[in-house]
Amino acid sequence: MEKIGFIGYGAMGSMIIRGILSSGVLTESDIIITTRTLGKLEELQESYPRVEIAPDNCTVAQKSGKIFLFVNTGEVKGVLEEIKDHIVSDAHIVYIAAGLTMENLEKSFQGKISKVIPTLTSQVNEGISLVAHNSMVSDDDAQFVERIFKGIGEVKIVEEGQFGLGANITSSAPAFIALIMMKYAEAAQKKGSFTPKEVDQMLIKTLYGTGKLLQEKDMDFEDVIDRVATKGGITEGGLKVLDDGLTPLFHELFEKTLGKYEIIENELNQE
Ligand SMILES: NC(=O)c1ccc[n+]([C@@H]2O[C@H](COP(=O)([O-])OP(=O)(O)OC[C@H]3O[C@@H](n4cnc5c(N)ncnc54)[C@H](OP(=O)(O)O)[C@@H]3O)[C@@H](O)[C@H]2O)c1
Repeated sequence: MEKIGFIGYGAMGSMIIRGILSSGVLTESDIIITTRTLGKLEELQESYPRVEIAPDNCTVAQKSGKIFLFVNTGEVKGVLEEIKDHIVSDAHIVYIAAGLTMENLEKSFQGKISKVIPTLTSQVNEGISLVAHNSMVSDDDAQFVERIFKGIGEVKIVEEGQFGLGANITSSAPAFIALIMMKYAEAAQKKGSFTPKEVDQMLIKTLYGTGKLLQEKDMDFEDVIDRVATKGGITEGGLKVLDDGLTPLFHELFEKTLGKYEIIENELNQE
């Protein structure tokens, strides 16, 4: 019986595979997996002894109807070249490298391809995975991929051209939000008597509560601002400072990240 194959067990691979297993969307015996440094799979096998560990990438390809490539962006094409003569007919490749276009991969593999941009927040079953499929992917195949990623959060189907911007909003955003909070905490620590730990804890709880308020009370960002800031009050002064500073800053951020995305996409296309 064909298995569901996974190649690459790093930051994203381990998070997604563990999420899939703990959500029950696949069972242990459905899965065959390998990664470059096989020793890194020991802890997975201790928790899930019936997951099959393959000695190499080609073995995964031979035994799998669907192959998830969770290797580094620069490795995806090489791995596909390595396994392409071992891939079973009608196999479906799923990969997570943002800047690598499906058209580019189709030069090596002319079958079913889906591209997914996961997010670190899937580790707590939150956030959105962005998904696109090429024209070879049937509705059933698409639904399978979407079911897998719905096991670890939400799924949004996008056009492939929307991945650069979308990844900024879903996949890079946890890092951006964390840096904003870190700078906020650093500034707060310099102003008073709270320890760094106290400031971090206060901000984390506030961040979590704000997200929950937005989600559960169906509020939008402006609702939150209006509810907190009274006219002529203290918060309003702070909002003015942020509004003036953040507008050009975020414009610059998107210029930078989307520009970099385009450069990486072009470089990968030329390889
Ligand atoms: N990190 C994020 O938040 C994020 C978000 C969205 C998308 N992505 C994308 O996800 C992909 C993986 O990122 P990551 O952060 O998980 O990277 P990572 O932590 O470096 O993991 C990559 C894994 O692939 C393995 N690998 C590399 N080359 C291989 C090969 N030829 N054969 C078999 N296994 C191989 C590595 O093995 P070793 O352990 O031996 O190095 C490692 O386990 C990248 O394309 C990245 O752009 C990442």
